Amino acid sequence: MADGFDLKPTQTPKLASEREAILKGNLGFGRVFTENMVKIRYAEGAWQRGELVPYGPITLDPAASVLHYGQAIFEGFKAYRQPDGGLATFRPAANGKRFAASAARLAMPALPVEVFVDASDVLLQSEDAWVPSGVGQSMYLRPLMIATEAALGVKPAKEYVFLLFGSPSGDYFPNGVKPISLWLCTDYVRAAPGGTGEAKCAGNYAASLVAQQKAIDEGCVQVIWLDAVERKYVEEMGGMNLFFVYKDGAGHKLVTPQLTGTLLAGVTRDSLLKLAADLGYGIEEKMVSVQDWEQGLKDGSLVEVFACGTAAVITPVGEVKFDGGKWDINGGEFGPHARKLRESLLAIQYGQAPDTHGWMHRVP
Ligand code: COI
Repeated sequence: MADGFDLKPTQTPKLASEREAILKGNLGFGRVFTENMVKIRYAEGAWQRGELVPYGPITLDPAASVLHYGQAIFEGFKAYRQPDGGLATFRPAANGKRFAASAARLAMPALPVEVFVDASDVLLQSEDAWVPSGVGQSMYLRPLMIATEAALGVKPAKEYVFLLFGSPSGDYFPNGVKPISLWLCTDYVRAAPGGTGEAKCAGNYAASLVAQQKAIDEGCVQVIWLDAVERKYVEEMGGMNLFFVYKDGAGHKLVTPQLTGTLLAGVTRDSLLKLAADLGYGIEEKMVSVQDWEQGLKDGSLVEVFACGTAAVITPVGEVKFDGGKWDINGGEFGPHARKLRESLLAIQYGQAPDTHGWMHRVP
């Protein structure tokens, strides 16, 4: 696998004691980066040989397309320390597939899924000692692709670079896994039909930030996005998918907004739908309106709401605020269903429960 890559790791590796001190500190999310990264250039219509190079600033021509017209996509997945000391990544091929789909939407070249997965193996073999082993910790992997061609004409670029680096991380939200407060955004939209909502492209996140700032100003952590056309249906929360837990006869069912082309098809979302079915929950993907949400809280059929994504796994929602009011959810508590699903998924990821769906990719 490393056959397709040239390995030129950093010349002056950090001392083990220095690395240990960093890993023992408060890692947070996405603030610490390891010493090497993978780089693959695309030029003359083909991907070039991959390289493992020192992590550090990259040089770009000021006319590089990405700086003007925004051809930039990324992914996020994680490597977990396993009980035998080895490493495994969670569904890397699913992220590789989505990366290729995002590339297609932005008229960028697709990186073959096997090269995407090999790149993560090469990086992790080199950076193994940087993968933390504490509770809730993992190595967040961030692959990205940008257009590097220096050309100001508005057209798909002919040159790109793929980079992949690692960030030893703990909890995504600074307060840990606690119910969060959400701002129901009615004045901005994240994605419209025919747009890029389904792609994991930088522009979607740039366009979301004014609403994210509004949420923060309102004392909330993230935004709830509604559909662009009717401003009626719930789509996503910030950069994460949403789940609703309803009473269902003697048991419970999980409802999540259906994929209409404007939502990101989350790998955690897909995994939770499968895992919930294994655990005996009913599951349903459908349009969920703001009115359904309010009604479910009023009549008591909606017992929990949570968000999911790679970075934060599962985060309970404790409160929704909007102009003129707010709703409390499950008394602002971390409910038993979100907790059970979170623990079940983490047990698979950390190799403590059987991987019946074949989701874990062992780093060779
Ligand atoms: C995730 O939930 O993993 C995300 O996509 C958020 C990320 C952009 C930090």
